[in-house]
Amino acid sequence: MNAPSYQIPREIIDEIRDRSDIVEVISECGVPLRPAGKDYKANCPFHDEKTPSFSVSPHKQIFYCFGCQTGGNVISFVQKHEGKSFVESVEWLAGRIGMALPTQDAKAAQASRRRHELENVSRFAAQYFHRQLLTPTIGGTALAYLKSRGVNDETIRQSQLGYTTPDRRGLVKVATHAGFSIQQLVDAGLIKNDDHGPVDRFRGRIIFPILDDRGNPVGFGGRALADDLLPKYLNSPTTPLYDKSKILYNLYHARQEIQKSGSALLVEGYLDALMLHQAGIKNVVASLGTSFSASHASLLKRFSEEVVMVYDGDAAGFQATLRGLHLLLKEALRVRIALLPPDQDPDSYVRSNGADRFKDEIEKAVNLVEFQIQRAVRQGALRNVEVKAQAVKEIGFTLSNVENQVQLNEYVKYTARELDVGEGALRLELRSKGIGRKATNGSGAPLDFQTSSDRRQLSPRESVEEELVETLIQSPELIPHVSDQLQHENFTRPDLAQVVKVLWEANSSGKSVDIQELIDSSIDDKTKAIISNAIIQQRTPPNSKAKVDGCLRKFRQYLLLDMERTLRSDALTQGDDDIDTLEQLVELSNQRRQFVS
Ligand code: UTP
Ligand code: MN
Repeated sequence: MNAPSYQIPREIIDEIRDRSDIVEVISECGVPLRPAGKDYKANCPFHDEKTPSFSVSPHKQIFYCFGCQTGGNVISFVQKHEGKSFVESVEWLAGRIGMALPTQDAKAAQASRRRHELENVSRFAAQYFHRQLLTPTIGGTALAYLKSRGVNDETIRQSQLGYTTPDRRGLVKVATHAGFSIQQLVDAGLIKNDDHGPVDRFRGRIIFPILDDRGNPVGFGGRALADDLLPKYLNSPTTPLYDKSKILYNLYHARQEIQKSGSALLVEGYLDALMLHQAGIKNVVASLGTSFSASHASLLKRFSEEVVMVYDGDAAGFQATLRGLHLLLKEALRVRIALLPPDQDPDSYVRSNGADRFKDEIEKAVNLVEFQIQRAVRQGALRNVEVKAQAVKEIGFTLSNVENQVQLNEYVKYTARELDVGEGALRLELRSKGIGRKATNGSGAPLDFQTSSDRRQLSPRESVEEELVETLIQSPELIPHVSDQLQHENFTRPDLAQVVKVLWEANSSGKSVDIQELIDSSIDDKTKAIISNAIIQQRTPPNSKAKVDGCLRKFRQYLLLDMERTLRSDALTQGDDDIDTLEQLVELSNQRRQFVS
């Protein structure tokens, strides 16, 4: 989350940020912003809500959600929405405005130019395929086939489905005519050279473009339209743009819903993903028949804590998939498994039973350990010692990948109970495999923001602290005036103390505090949220200086009260009731009275 020591020079980051309008970027990321006064509003992309509490200030270039208290600038938005690191987000924004980064050496610059070319070829091809599908004399049969499978126009448009005729050189001709080179087409995995020259890779197929995280087509899947054309699905080879172990089909369209629901559904096929999405179950991605990789797992981990794998339990690939599941556990993802009835895939299931029944199946999905136990029980583990021993061994392997100690504990208890083995014996067995001695993984702790409903319950002192910090964020030029008089330890609210610490540190560098730069620096999400909130709420304060001085006066009273209390309690506990102490106390309470307004 935090900005590391910059590989990218500060001025460049500033320039990229200045040239990336937050309203444009957020809109391009698929959040429908509507003007509201001088700001924009939308339903928050980071949590589920019915009324918009997500605000964007074009003037301040800040976003803030009053519902989930997430906020920051354009870079923080990309980090959060796209699940990228700080540097990746800056690079992403740079790419968006076509700005070259100075960190790129000549070789890297050439690679990125080449990538750009391949992106253009792929986009061209995707558009060509799509047009072919929608031209009745060419794609009529293919379109009818898609319709017969229940795919509607909206899905066809949104997922840019396409068609290629059996013609050997359809794409070769139009793409070279449009100025692309044979080499570029080969590099993009779209054509092959054979004995008779260049030929299209995809022929006589329905095309499913595979989009990267910016929505660019980078690879393709082609389903044979005729039964005798093999393989049934032909996929792009690995190219500089496309690495199947690093990409999930439909993630581009699903990630917002994955983030909101906190859960991703993992299915196998193109049509499974599309048809669930069409049925309103939008948090779905497909692994495209490849085994689920560690990169897939960390990709999903950016957006959610949980993956539900949806499978036909009798399917051939299922056993292999099961073996790959420890990858998910290593990412500290919760894994559940939903087994569909034999010979049903998500597509056929949702078509014949509807979305609600499908959701019931997802509800019923059990976690991996439960799943293994249930399987063992079905195989007679409670009666057969050997089956039980085998089950304990398999579950032990699964558990060896659970990094989170709390989860591990729960699983051990559950296993012991369900398989009727002693918990102690089970732990011993696991420990003999070196399991259960790992450090706790502290991930996944929810952030405990002060919510707006808490605000009413603030003590008078906390309200003063809050008003002071908010005013300082809105008028950072007043920070030097206050930092002489107060330290962050003087604040009772820990979150505000943290903000003050950050503000003071920024101030002590001698320059005036730049809020945008501050947000880019290594501050936590909570601090970002407080700062963004203050800025979004800003109503040009009539006189910040007077407001700050008012807060300071009240603040000093509280501090003097603190000192009195400490002195008094020291006097009581240590018997220090000498004349000096008493004099100090009188002096303090006199001072305090001077401040009473
Ligand atoms: P399936 O054979 O289950 O096909 O392969 P499907 O997705 O249900 O497709 P329909 O319903 O018959 O049209 C599941 C996935 O495995 C990959 C594809 O991604 C496919 O969607 N696959 C399958 C291949 O890559 N190549 C193949 O030859 C077959
Ligand atoms: Mn299918």
